[in-house]
Amino acid sequence: MTELVRAEDVRRDYRLGEDVVHAVRGVSVSIDAGEWVAIVGPSGCGKSTLLNLLGAIDAPSAGRVFVKGRDVSSLGDREATRFRLLEVGFIFQRFYLVPALTARENVELPLAEAGVSRDERRKRATELLTYVGLAERARHLPAQLSGGEQQRVAIARALANRPALLLADEPTGELDARTGAEIIGLLSRLNGEGTTVVVVTHDEELAAAARRVVHMRDGVIDDRPREETGRVAVRMQQGSSERTVHWPLRTLIAWLFVGRQCDEVRALLARGETTRDGTRATWTPVRLSAEELTAIERTFPAASPARALEPARARATLLTPGGSVLLTPDDSRVRDATSRAIYRWFDYGVWADVWEATSDDGVVRFEMFRPGESPPWSTAA
Ligand SMILES: Nc1ncnc2c1ncn2[C@@H]1O[C@H](COP(=O)(O)OP(=O)(O)OP(=O)(O)O)[C@@H](O)[C@H]1O
Ligand SMILES: [Mg+2]
Repeated sequence: MTELVRAEDVRRDYRLGEDVVHAVRGVSVSIDAGEWVAIVGPSGCGKSTLLNLLGAIDAPSAGRVFVKGRDVSSLGDREATRFRLLEVGFIFQRFYLVPALTARENVELPLAEAGVSRDERRKRATELLTYVGLAERARHLPAQLSGGEQQRVAIARALANRPALLLADEPTGELDARTGAEIIGLLSRLNGEGTTVVVVTHDEELAAAARRVVHMRDGVIDDRPREETGRVAVRMQQGSSERTVHWPLRTLIAWLFVGRQCDEVRALLARGETTRDGTRATWTPVRLSAEELTAIERTFPAASPARALEPARARATLLTPGGSVLLTPDDSRVRDATSRAIYRWFDYGVWADVWEATSDDGVVRFEMFRPGESPPWSTAA
């Protein structure tokens, strides 16, 4: 197989005033022509940053990226633009179609930039829209298309100049499961026809469809053996209601981690029972070494000072000794607490970030759930 992309010890630091975020800290990876690679890992581990480096959207702070043997990490602005236009197709979670242009005009844009004649542009855009099953929608504006259709237009646009490399960042992130499956099918067809695809995703189905999965953690490639896939039966009892859930061990551990330290979690796992939020959970005791547990803890998203708290997207609750009250985003207590919120727990498991700030009436807690994911305890009752 011919090598298409090679990253050599790439690093990317972001400077924010005094702080430096080491988003990618030394990644080397080689991708052959025709491969389909999924990059997965916890939020904030550097997946998007790496993808942008591979596609010369961004330049590394150190290290080099080669595409088709050419060093693209040190291109000037104009050369980088030209390279992206002709060699790379990008697909994003939010589609980024031009709202004032029709589907066909959106697909024609990169062709026009590449200097393709008007007739040829039309022809090619029409072919591409037919390919993604949208021949009938050529004259629609993005706002007149469903999410899945918009993403298909975006894919047609990404393919316009027949790129060697297709890069996708969470392409199914905004779509429901069925529409997401259509996009997965389309990527699969493209890869089957020879396009090299690199996709960043949280979507397990999408990752499973890829031929190769690269795991990232804290800005590096994580090539430790994958944790066992066995599930733990956990019996949840709340009052008189009772149900059994089958969680991956990781999920149980994430559930136990909230507000706790590694050692406490290990003790709980070995005891096989705990009570949380009025729910008593029991399972077959699990013994993990401190090292294993620390390794699992590290795969949870790391706290990042660069990640902003968006109160409108969070569930804000006022916690008082007398109980808790749900607050609306425009509540003045939410506004005040936002500016003072601290990241109290590094993470709330793999599903959410939790921020808290003390207010005069109690503690305002923000829980930011990841789209499409919900914590298991929200359905545990
Ligand atoms: N422009 C930026 N300025 C400062 N820090 C940034 C910038 N972009 C990303 N970061 C930080 O770099 C780290 C890696 O970000 P990146 O977007 O690559 O993560 P990710 O793995 O794609 O996460 P997610 O799954 O949430 O999209 C994070 O800590 C993030 O806050
Ligand atoms: Mg990302």
